[in-house]
Amino acid sequence: MAKHPEVAPALLCKSRAEFLHKLKQIEHVAHRAQVDVMDGVFVPNTTVQPKELRRLKTRVKLEIQLMVKHPEEYLHDCCAMGAWMVIFHYEATKNATKIKSFINQARAHKLKVGMAINPRTPASALKPFLKLVDLILVMTVQPGFGGQKLIPATLKKVTQLRAWAPKLDIEVDGGINATTAPLAIKAGANVLVAGNAIFKAKTIKEGISALIS
Ligand code: DX5
Repeated sequence: MAKHPEVAPALLCKSRAEFLHKLKQIEHVAHRAQVDVMDGVFVPNTTVQPKELRRLKTRVKLEIQLMVKHPEEYLHDCCAMGAWMVIFHYEATKNATKIKSFINQARAHKLKVGMAINPRTPASALKPFLKLVDLILVMTVQPGFGGQKLIPATLKKVTQLRAWAPKLDIEVDGGINATTAPLAIKAGANVLVAGNAIFKAKTIKEGISALIS
Protein backbone atom coordinates (compact mmCIF):
# COMPACT_ATOMS: atom_id res chain seq x y z
CA MET A 1 0.00 0.00 0.00
CA ALA A 2 1.65 3.26 -1.17
CA LYS A 3 2.11 5.94 1.48
CA HIS A 4 -0.33 8.84 1.18
CA PRO A 5 1.58 11.66 -0.59
CA GLU A 6 2.56 14.77 1.40
CA VAL A 7 3.59 18.22 0.11
CA ALA A 8 6.48 20.31 1.44
CA PRO A 9 6.57 23.86 0.05
CA ALA A 10 10.12 24.84 -0.95
CA LEU A 11 11.44 27.93 0.86
CA LEU A 12 14.23 29.17 -1.43
CA CYS A 13 15.03 32.56 0.09
CA LYS A 14 17.81 35.14 -0.10
CA SER A 15 17.14 36.77 3.30
CA ARG A 16 15.60 36.22 6.72
CA ALA A 17 12.88 38.70 5.82
CA GLU A 18 11.96 36.79 2.66
CA PHE A 19 12.04 33.53 4.58
CA LEU A 20 9.73 34.81 7.33
CA HIS A 21 7.34 36.21 4.71
CA LYS A 22 7.13 32.87 2.85
CA LEU A 23 6.87 30.90 6.11
CA LYS A 24 3.95 33.10 7.16
CA GLN A 25 2.27 32.45 3.79
CA ILE A 26 2.36 28.67 4.22
CA GLU A 27 1.98 28.31 7.98
CA HIS A 28 -1.78 27.96 7.95
CA VAL A 29 -1.87 25.27 5.25
CA ALA A 30 1.35 23.24 5.41
CA HIS A 31 2.67 21.17 8.33
CA ARG A 32 6.11 20.69 6.75
CA ALA A 33 8.35 22.78 4.53
CA GLN A 34 11.75 22.39 2.90
CA VAL A 35 14.32 25.13 3.53
CA ASP A 36 16.85 25.39 0.68
CA VAL A 37 20.37 26.13 1.93
CA MET A 38 23.02 26.77 -0.72
CA ASP A 39 26.70 27.69 -0.23
CA GLY A 40 27.56 28.97 -3.73
CA VAL A 41 30.17 26.17 -3.99
CA PHE A 42 28.20 22.89 -4.15
CA VAL A 43 25.63 24.76 -6.29
CA PRO A 44 26.09 28.04 -8.21
CA ASN A 45 23.69 29.98 -5.99
CA THR A 46 23.43 31.19 -2.40
CA THR A 47 20.52 31.50 0.01
CA VAL A 48 19.76 32.71 3.50
CA GLN A 49 21.88 30.67 5.92
CA PRO A 50 20.66 28.69 8.98
CA LYS A 51 22.65 30.99 11.28
CA GLU A 52 20.41 33.86 10.08
CA LEU A 53 17.29 31.86 10.95
CA ARG A 54 17.71 31.29 14.66
CA ARG A 55 14.87 31.57 17.16
CA LEU A 56 12.11 30.71 14.65
CA LYS A 57 8.69 30.32 16.21
CA THR A 58 6.70 27.95 13.98
CA ARG A 59 4.77 24.72 14.23
CA VAL A 60 5.80 23.85 10.65
CA LYS A 61 8.27 20.93 10.58
CA LEU A 62 11.35 22.27 8.80
CA GLU A 63 13.53 19.98 6.69
CA ILE A 64 16.77 21.68 5.70
CA GLN A 65 18.15 20.69 2.29
CA LEU A 66 21.89 21.30 2.58
CA MET A 67 23.13 21.95 -0.94
CA VAL A 68 26.57 22.53 0.50
CA LYS A 69 30.06 21.03 0.23
CA HIS A 70 30.47 20.58 4.01
CA PRO A 71 27.06 19.68 5.52
CA GLU A 72 28.63 18.82 8.88
CA GLU A 73 29.41 22.55 9.36
CA TYR A 74 25.69 23.36 9.35
CA LEU A 75 24.35 20.93 11.96
CA HIS A 76 24.65 23.22 14.98
CA ASP A 77 22.90 26.13 13.25
CA CYS A 78 20.18 23.82 11.87
CA CYS A 79 19.44 22.78 15.46
CA ALA A 80 19.50 26.42 16.61
CA MET A 81 16.77 27.25 14.08
CA GLY A 82 14.64 24.33 15.28
CA ALA A 83 15.09 22.03 12.26
CA TRP A 84 13.24 18.69 12.25
CA MET A 85 15.38 17.07 9.54
CA VAL A 86 18.58 17.72 7.63
CA ILE A 87 18.99 16.43 4.08
CA PHE A 88 22.56 16.16 2.79
CA HIS A 89 23.79 15.37 -0.71
CA TYR A 90 25.56 12.13 -1.58
CA GLU A 91 27.68 14.15 -4.02
CA ALA A 92 29.06 16.37 -1.23
CA THR A 93 31.16 13.51 0.10
CA LYS A 94 30.71 10.31 -2.04
CA ASN A 95 32.71 8.63 0.76
CA ALA A 96 30.88 5.93 2.75
CA THR A 97 32.84 6.62 5.95
CA LYS A 98 32.14 10.36 5.80
CA ILE A 99 28.50 9.72 4.90
CA LYS A 100 28.02 7.40 7.89
CA SER A 101 29.82 9.91 10.12
CA PHE A 102 27.49 12.72 9.03
CA ILE A 103 24.43 10.55 9.63
CA ASN A 104 25.70 9.71 13.14
CA GLN A 105 26.45 13.38 13.88
CA ALA A 106 22.96 14.42 12.72
CA ARG A 107 21.40 11.72 14.90
CA ALA A 108 23.49 12.92 17.85
CA HIS A 109 21.93 16.36 17.22
CA LYS A 110 18.50 14.64 17.49
CA LEU A 111 17.73 15.43 13.85
CA LYS A 112 16.03 13.20 11.31
CA VAL A 113 18.28 12.55 8.32
CA GLY A 114 17.60 12.52 4.60
CA MET A 115 19.99 11.82 1.75
CA ALA A 116 19.73 13.48 -1.67
CA ILE A 117 21.02 12.54 -5.11
CA ASN A 118 21.36 14.78 -8.15
CA PRO A 119 19.92 13.88 -11.57
CA ARG A 120 23.17 12.35 -12.88
CA THR A 121 23.82 10.18 -9.79
CA PRO A 122 22.50 6.60 -10.14
CA ALA A 123 20.04 5.25 -7.56
CA SER A 124 22.53 2.47 -6.80
CA ALA A 125 24.77 5.04 -5.06
CA LEU A 126 22.21 5.20 -2.23
CA LYS A 127 21.70 1.44 -1.86
CA PRO A 128 24.25 1.00 0.99
CA PHE A 129 22.60 3.74 3.05
CA LEU A 130 18.87 3.07 2.71
CA LYS A 131 18.59 1.53 6.18
CA LEU A 132 20.48 4.42 7.80
CA VAL A 133 18.29 7.36 6.75
CA ASP A 134 14.69 8.50 7.25
CA LEU A 135 14.17 9.88 3.73
CA ILE A 136 15.65 9.81 0.26
CA LEU A 137 15.44 12.91 -1.92
CA VAL A 138 15.63 12.32 -5.67
CA MET A 139 16.38 15.70 -7.25
CA THR A 140 14.28 16.00 -10.38
CA VAL A 141 16.24 19.06 -11.52
CA GLN A 142 19.88 20.06 -11.21
CA PRO A 143 19.92 21.78 -7.78
CA GLY A 144 20.49 25.52 -7.44
CA PHE A 145 17.43 27.27 -8.78
CA GLY A 146 13.64 27.14 -8.72
CA GLY A 147 11.40 27.25 -11.79
CA GLN A 148 13.23 24.57 -13.78
CA LYS A 149 11.62 21.71 -15.75
CA LEU A 150 11.47 18.21 -14.24
CA ILE A 151 13.96 15.79 -15.86
CA PRO A 152 11.75 12.74 -16.71
CA ALA A 153 14.60 10.19 -16.51
CA THR A 154 14.96 10.93 -12.76
CA LEU A 155 11.58 9.28 -12.10
CA LYS A 156 13.05 5.88 -13.05
CA LYS A 157 15.34 6.25 -10.04
CA VAL A 158 12.31 6.89 -7.81
CA THR A 159 10.83 3.58 -9.01
CA GLN A 160 14.11 1.75 -8.42
CA LEU A 161 14.46 3.16 -4.91
CA ARG A 162 10.81 2.39 -4.06
CA ALA A 163 11.43 -1.25 -5.05
CA TRP A 164 14.48 -1.39 -2.76
CA ALA A 165 12.83 0.54 0.09
CA PRO A 166 9.04 0.02 0.16
CA LYS A 167 8.58 1.79 3.51
CA LEU A 168 11.05 4.69 3.20
CA ASP A 169 9.92 8.25 2.52
CA ILE A 170 10.96 9.08 -1.04
CA GLU A 171 10.86 12.76 -1.88
CA VAL A 172 11.12 14.54 -5.24
CA ASP A 173 12.12 18.16 -5.72
CA GLY A 174 12.34 20.36 -8.80
CA GLY A 175 9.73 21.11 -11.45
CA ILE A 176 6.95 19.50 -9.41
CA ASN A 177 3.55 20.85 -10.50
CA ALA A 178 -0.01 19.67 -11.19
CA THR A 179 1.21 17.85 -14.33
CA THR A 180 4.39 16.22 -13.02
CA ALA A 181 3.21 15.44 -9.47
CA PRO A 182 0.96 12.51 -10.55
CA LEU A 183 3.88 11.07 -12.57
CA ALA A 184 6.17 11.30 -9.53
CA ILE A 185 3.58 9.66 -7.27
CA LYS A 186 3.01 6.88 -9.83
CA ALA A 187 6.80 6.36 -9.95
CA GLY A 188 6.77 5.81 -6.17
CA ALA A 189 7.40 9.20 -4.54
CA ASN A 190 5.37 10.06 -1.43
CA VAL A 191 6.76 13.50 -0.53
CA LEU A 192 6.54 16.31 -3.09
CA VAL A 193 8.59 19.49 -2.77
CA ALA A 194 7.41 22.44 -4.84
CA GLY A 195 8.27 26.12 -5.00
CA ASN A 196 6.91 27.92 -8.04
CA ALA A 197 3.85 25.67 -8.38
CA ILE A 198 2.78 26.70 -4.87
CA PHE A 199 3.91 30.31 -4.55
CA LYS A 200 2.73 31.28 -8.04
CA ALA A 201 -0.72 29.70 -7.60
CA LYS A 202 -3.80 31.85 -6.96
CA THR A 203 -3.64 30.82 -3.29
CA ILE A 204 -1.11 28.71 -1.40
CA LYS A 205 -3.87 26.25 -0.50
CA GLU A 206 -4.83 25.80 -4.17
CA GLY A 207 -1.18 25.41 -5.13
CA ILE A 208 -0.73 22.61 -2.60
CA SER A 209 -4.00 20.79 -3.26
CA ALA A 210 -3.40 20.86 -7.04
CA LEU A 211 -0.40 18.59 -6.46
CA ILE A 212 -2.16 15.82 -4.56
CA SER A 213 -5.79 16.01 -5.64
C1 DX5 B 1 16.41 23.62 -6.29
C2 DX5 B 1 15.66 23.54 -4.97
C3 DX5 B 1 14.21 23.27 -5.15
C4 DX5 B 1 13.50 24.40 -5.85
C5 DX5 B 1 12.14 23.92 -6.25
O1 DX5 B 1 17.77 23.55 -6.05
O2 DX5 B 1 16.21 22.50 -4.17
O3 DX5 B 1 13.59 23.07 -3.88
O4 DX5 B 1 13.40 25.49 -4.98
O5 DX5 B 1 11.56 24.93 -7.02
P1 DX5 B 1 10.46 24.57 -8.14
O6 DX5 B 1 9.42 23.76 -7.40
O7 DX5 B 1 9.99 25.90 -8.59
O8 DX5 B 1 11.15 23.77 -9.19
